[in-house]
Amino acid sequence: MAQLLITGGAGFIGSHTCLVLLEAGHQLLVLDDFSNSSAVALERVAELAGVRLQRDQPTLRAAPETFTLVEGDIRDAQCLDALFASATTFGQPIEAVIHFAGLKAVGESVQQPLRYWDVNVVGTQRLLSAMDRHSCRTLVFSSSTTLYGYPDQVPIPETAPIQPINPYGASKHAAESLLANLAGCSGNTEPIQASEGGWRIARLRYFNPVGAHPSGRIGEDPNGIPNNLFPFITQVAVGRRPQLTVFGDDWPTPDGTCIRDYIHVMDLAEGHREALHSLLNADPQLLTLNLGSGQGASVLDVVKAMEAASQRPIPYRIAPRRPGDVAITLANPTLAAEHLYWRTQRSLTDICRDGWSWQQANPQGYIRQT
Ligand code: NAD
Ligand code: UFG
Repeated sequence: MAQLLITGGAGFIGSHTCLVLLEAGHQLLVLDDFSNSSAVALERVAELAGVRLQRDQPTLRAAPETFTLVEGDIRDAQCLDALFASATTFGQPIEAVIHFAGLKAVGESVQQPLRYWDVNVVGTQRLLSAMDRHSCRTLVFSSSTTLYGYPDQVPIPETAPIQPINPYGASKHAAESLLANLAGCSGNTEPIQASEGGWRIARLRYFNPVGAHPSGRIGEDPNGIPNNLFPFITQVAVGRRPQLTVFGDDWPTPDGTCIRDYIHVMDLAEGHREALHSLLNADPQLLTLNLGSGQGASVLDVVKAMEAASQRPIPYRIAPRRPGDVAITLANPTLAAEHLYWRTQRSLTDICRDGWSWQQANPQGYIRQT
């Protein structure tokens, strides 16, 4: 089993993936600056996995244990060098990196494009440089359906045109391009390409990750007012917010509200495990895969499913369309099924049951629930 570096491992998707990777027997070093997360998430992951969470410095004072947490910034080259070098000194070199750390709010990216390029592009470049210096050349990267912008076709295949419509999407596109350059690959035509220089890279394009671990111990804990539908709905259900605003009921869809491909975060976490194992057992290559279910749900479908899960009404009002929204996004998930033997296992009902368990047990998220 491998020693892995997980950047952004305390976040929503990272924390669930840490649990799945610990359960698969891997040893994890998490690097996070906690700019959008809490260490409590990792304490709970440790508790669920039945391991101890060791906290250390980038220059490790002790050999990495099963689950080690280091506070630091992916843009800090010294910190990265110290981490890679220390792990090697202790005889446990980092074999692969799963890179979640980044900023992800579309609206904020419009206000702060420099910050988004700095963290998502410069941060990724610093990480890759450190990996290269320390001969660690296996990476799983968090990409996004946001790259497809206004899609020309749905379900969306990996070969669809890349046309980001906001700085967040542009930053993910730049990071994806850097990864392709590093692997000696060009263009967006082939989702599976042989790569150069020993690099094994998976660019995973997530659709809409939602839900929580079924224990209700870990889940999504956005700062402030949620931008995204699912955490907003769970916060209405738990009484933190009075009502949901539905952005438009005049879209060209059966009920007039937008359709998305919601993917249970545990399915997504398992997708990372499969992508990692595939890379570790393959010749150097660049993989580009959609991770989605291929199933669509409208905004009102999600409202109804959450009402059923929570046994509470979700009041809502219809408002004008939100700028930048797309009527329908849906993954074509065929390639991930063929290449990773992975497909989503959990339904919208499961998503709402688990998301509700988390929100009900942690109405204020992690911060006041230690
Ligand atoms: P998140 O904000 O919960 O997690 C990101 C983590 O990275 C946080 O723990 C944060 O503290 C950390 N971080 C941020 N900047 C850092 C830095 N400079 N150095 C070290 N750590 C840093 O987000 P998430 O939903 O778990 O998303 C994880 C990744 O997946 C992100 O790259 C995001 O862009 C991508 N993604 C998310 C979604 C989604 O809808 N959640 C969809 C597609 C892609
Ligand atoms: N919506 C509402 N009310 C809300 C929030 C959202 O009606 O309060 C609607 C939106 O208009 C949209 C749907 O719910 O129709 C889903 O919206 P989200 O904000 O939850 O998700 P998006 O599909 O807009 O995008 C999110 C991220 C993107 C990312 C994408 C897929 O913001 O960056 O998921 O990962 F690319």
